[in-house]
Order: sequence, then C-alpha cells, then structure tokens
Amino acid sequence: MSNESFHNNLPEAVLTIGKICREQDLPAYVIGGYVRDLILNRSSKDIDVVVIGDAIEVATKVAKAIGNTIPVSVFKNFGTAMIKLDDIEIEFVGARKESYSSDSRKPKVFTGTLEDDQNRRDFTINALAISLNKNDFGTLLDPFNGLADIDAKIIRTPLDPIITYSDDPLRMMRAIRFATQLQFTIEKDSLEAISTICERIKIISMERVSDELNKIILSPKPSIGFNLLFETGLLKLIFPEMNNLFGVESIKGKEHKDNFYHTLEVLDNICAHTDNLWLRWAAILHDIAKPPTKRFDPEHGWTFHGHEDKGARMVPGIFRDLKLPLNEKMKYVQKLVLLHLRPIVLAKSEITDSAVRRLLFEAGDDIDDLMKLCSADVTTKNEFKQKKYKANFELVKEKLIEVEEKDNIRNWQPPVTGEMIMETFNLKPCREVGIIKNAIREAILDGHIPNQHEIAFKYMLEKAESLGIQPVK
Ligand code: CTP
Repeated sequence: MSNESFHNNLPEAVLTIGKICREQDLPAYVIGGYVRDLILNRSSKDIDVVVIGDAIEVATKVAKAIGNTIPVSVFKNFGTAMIKLDDIEIEFVGARKESYSSDSRKPKVFTGTLEDDQNRRDFTINALAISLNKNDFGTLLDPFNGLADIDAKIIRTPLDPIITYSDDPLRMMRAIRFATQLQFTIEKDSLEAISTICERIKIISMERVSDELNKIILSPKPSIGFNLLFETGLLKLIFPEMNNLFGVESIKGKEHKDNFYHTLEVLDNICAHTDNLWLRWAAILHDIAKPPTKRFDPEHGWTFHGHEDKGARMVPGIFRDLKLPLNEKMKYVQKLVLLHLRPIVLAKSEITDSAVRRLLFEAGDDIDDLMKLCSADVTTKNEFKQKKYKANFELVKEKLIEVEEKDNIRNWQPPVTGEMIMETFNLKPCREVGIIKNAIREAILDGHIPNQHEIAFKYMLEKAESLGIQPVK
C-alpha cells in the first residue's frame, strides 16, 4: 500500500488530529491494532495515538479544536487521555520505554522515542505506525517488517520472544488469539518461547486470560487456538479439565475416541451455526466429564455412564475458576450439557410423544440450541451412520414441532397452579399441594390427559380424593 493511499484511508478524526499536531508541531503517530486492521481491511473502533511529549496536552488541544463539548478523560497516573467521537475511541499515550521486573507485570516507565515505543510492543504486526507529522504525513513506519509479516500471515515478536513474552505473559494468549482470529502462523521461535515460559501465565489475572480465551472461542475456527494452547502447555495451566480430554486408552485392543479432538470437531461444527458464545461453551463442555466417568467393561468396552450429569455438575466449578459469569449464562450451559444426549437417545429408539414432551418440558426455549449442539456432536466419519443419524434427527425435529403444536409444552405453565389447588381444598402450602401438582404435570407429560385447564382440574379432584382430601363446598 502506498503512502498516498494511507493518507486517503485515514478517517476524518485522524486527519483532524494530524492537522492539529502539525499546526502545534507536536510529533504524533497512529499506532498498533488500528494500523494493522486498516491494512487487513478489518473494521476497528479504537485508535491509539502515540505522542512524543505530553499526551494529555495533545488530547486536550485536539478535543478543543474539534468542538468544545467533547470531554477528555484524563488518566493522570498513566499520563494518558481518551476522547470519544461518536463510536470511535481515541487514546493518546506518550511514547514510552519500559523496563519490567521478573515477578510483576508493573513496568517502570520512562519517556522514550517512537522506536522505543515500537520495541516494547507485542508483535511486528502490532508495531506499525503511521506518521501524522508535517514532513512525512501518512508514511508507514515499520522497523520490524510488520507489513511483510502481514503479507506472509506470520505472528512474530519485535524482540527476542522470551523478552517480549516475559515482559507481559498475557501476550502468549494474545499470540494464539491473533493466530486463531486472523488464521496466521506463529513463527517457530516464538512458539517455542511460549512452551518454554508458559508457567508465567500464572501471574496474569484469570479475567484477562479468559477474555482472550473467549476471543479464541468466538473466532471462525476455534480449534486452531485450542490446538496451540494444548501444544504449548498453556491449556493445562488455564483449563486443566479440557486438557484431560486428550488421549486414547486401549485395553484388549479396544480403544475409545480421543475426546479432546472430538470436542474440537464439535466446537468447529457448531461455529458454522451460531455466534452465541455460550452455545459454543456448551460444545466445549458437553463431554467434559468423560475422563472422570470412564470405565472399561470387558463385555461392552469403554463406557462413560453419567458423563452428562457429572459434566453439568462440573460447570459451576469451571466457570468459577475461569472467572466466567455465574449467572443465567452458566445455567444455560449447564442445562445443555445435562441434556446433550437426550435428542440422540430419542433418535435411536422409537420416538414416542411422551419422550418428546419430556424433552420439550426440560429444554424449554433452549430446545433449538440443544438440537444444534446434538447435530454438531455427530462426528462419525462413517457415511452410512452419518446419514442415518441425520435422518433420525430430522424425524425428531418434525416430532418436536408436531407435539409442540398440539400440547404447548415448550413454555410450560401449569394449567392448574399451586394457588388454585390451595384455594379449592382450603390448604396452606404443604406436601400434598406438591404431590397433586406433580401428579398433574406427570399425567400431561405421559399423555394421560391433555394440557388443558378443565381436564387437568378434574384430574386434580380425582387425585385429591385418592389422598383423602375433599374440596371446600
Ligand atoms: N499491546 C502490547 N501488549 C499487550 C497488549 C497490547 O504490546 N499485552 C499493544 C499492541 O501494539 C496492540 C496495542 O497495544 O496493537 C493495542 O492493544 P489492544 O487494544 O489490546 O489490542 P489490539 O491489537 O488493538 O487488538 P484487539 O482490538 O483485537 O484487541
């Protein structure tokens, strides 16, 4: 890309910054991710500007020149400032030269030149700068050949990778995240360095680690990232339960499949059908309890009985360790892990209405996501089996629609409520109310009575009578 085209490609806000910096003779450069994304044609809303001098002063002057109403957020301790223009955030930072100590992420910061600043960045593709200055406006300043690395799709550190990663171990996660998002290759020495010092990830807060992990999971093909996390040893440190999925055991010539690679296949499969981060997490965790439930039965070979149940119970601990939200998102993942075998079991046997009703009752509005997860879980390479599963699945889907139209179970509201039961028999909340309520629900799910108020009310009277309870006159 020529300098001229950089000039033409810069948005209004950057041109304005350039104009002001030129007028005031304040050397400044657009740097980092914004320049990388400009070259890659990716949209980016965060613009970083490096100033050789006082960044807060430049930000204040720029804001004033654009319009008096634009607020400047000043971070005095860091010597940085930020202005917001519509949905664009522009951060002004003074050029820095940093020196890190080995046991902390907190660097000692000294004022530096542009080159010092580029030296301390994570990757060559993130160290590119565009000048906003009078004599070379629009020129790309690329001391580490970042442009060539973008062309060759390579992630490389500007300095010795051991130094760059030790300075900020989160960069090991970032390397793998960029490799996954951009489908770039991590250069050999850099990858080796990650394996060598992976233990240093422990000084990084789990919130920041899982932020990167989630970006890997939201990429088009997350298996790229998980394979790299596994190969470098990072996965074992940040997410040991997933690491444990790896491996194949063989007894008397009987092997089970490698659950790590199976999980990655399911995850990549589901990515074609959803952008929902939590459905993707459900794919990652669906077989998470296979290692602790694994048994060898001389007759049947390898079994993983109850892995869906144990897996669902493992979800809160995993979410807590990874500092993921412990709210309804976690409950949703738990539910999908718990139910992930149900549609497959259904598809294998004769599909009865009552089994479909029970599934609809338990999955509720998440039934469509559950079906997506189950389709993604079919990873057999046997074409015959593949076709058979898919065909049975279609039958389950049709049956789900048919039963839902008839019985309205998906958003289940009991046709006779606990309050109605208490009122009819003049009861206070007690065990009997629960028994009657459950009996009505079971009768509907089993198909003994339809999901209708009047018939359910009559059923309630009969059930109460069998318990020796009479309605008030
Ligand atoms: N940077 C770095 N080391 C880090 C984080 C960031 O050297 N651990 C530098 C890189 O030059 C990066 C820039 O700071 O390009 C901005 O960082 P950030 O906004 O976190 O990431 P981006 O590269 O912009 O990418 P994305 O927006 O996808 O996170």
